[in-house]
Amino acid sequence: MEVMKAMHPNMSETEIQGVHEYVYKKYGAEYEGYPSIVGGGNNGCILHYIENNKMEVGNDLVLMDLGAEYHGYTADVTRTIPANGKFSPEQKAIYDIVYEAQEAGIKASVVGAEFQAPGKAALKVVEEGLITLGIIKEASEARTYFPHGTSHYLGLDVHDQGTYRPFQPNTVITVEPGIYIPEGSDCDKKWWGIAVRIEDDILITEEGPVNLSAMAPRTTQAIEAMMKQPSPLDDFQLPKLD
Ligand code: GLY
Ligand code: MN
Ligand code: MN
Repeated sequence: MEVMKAMHPNMSETEIQGVHEYVYKKYGAEYEGYPSIVGGGNNGCILHYIENNKMEVGNDLVLMDLGAEYHGYTADVTRTIPANGKFSPEQKAIYDIVYEAQEAGIKASVVGAEFQAPGKAALKVVEEGLITLGIIKEASEARTYFPHGTSHYLGLDVHDQGTYRPFQPNTVITVEPGIYIPEGSDCDKKWWGIAVRIEDDILITEEGPVNLSAMAPRTTQAIEAMMKQPSPLDDFQLPKLD
């Protein structure tokens, strides 16, 4: 939420990373749970991008995959937001598919479901969405743009151990679909450089899935509204260095 308020197009990827890490350390987290990923535009298409060294994110989407480690346990959360505070029509079209895919994946995260259930549900939404937008022709092509798994166990480690048997109560997993369209992809140029992942930490209970990271805005409307809020960092100016 603080990064959404503070974000502007002339921030660097490293500065955005620094704001995340400062805020969660101010809340008492001891460490990063894993190397932070902050990728503007095409950099968001690089799955384990940790250089975070673009000096200005400009008007692109910024994909931010970061997690605080608190008393030994780690979070693993991704938000993708427009640096200028407003999704373009193309960015929103891709974002909304990933959002619906994640919603389907979260709904499938129930006691007794097979470990692959959230991934299957999410992939189906991505397949249908990319076909509707004309980015792919057949469902089998969807993996070109969604080339990773949807869920892993989360706990003491970011990719924690587990049984891969049907879900038991009190299991925590991530649900993290994404669509990545690198420059040069075999589709209309208007989609190039758009990369979206949305990742939340889901506690599976007898009463259904609980989103532990729900406080971070997730719909395009909620993100745009949060980005309009003032930030304490708006007035934070450092002396110029020679
Ligand atoms: N941040 C690593 C992952 O999402 O699995
Ligand atoms: Mn993850
Ligand atoms: Mn992650």
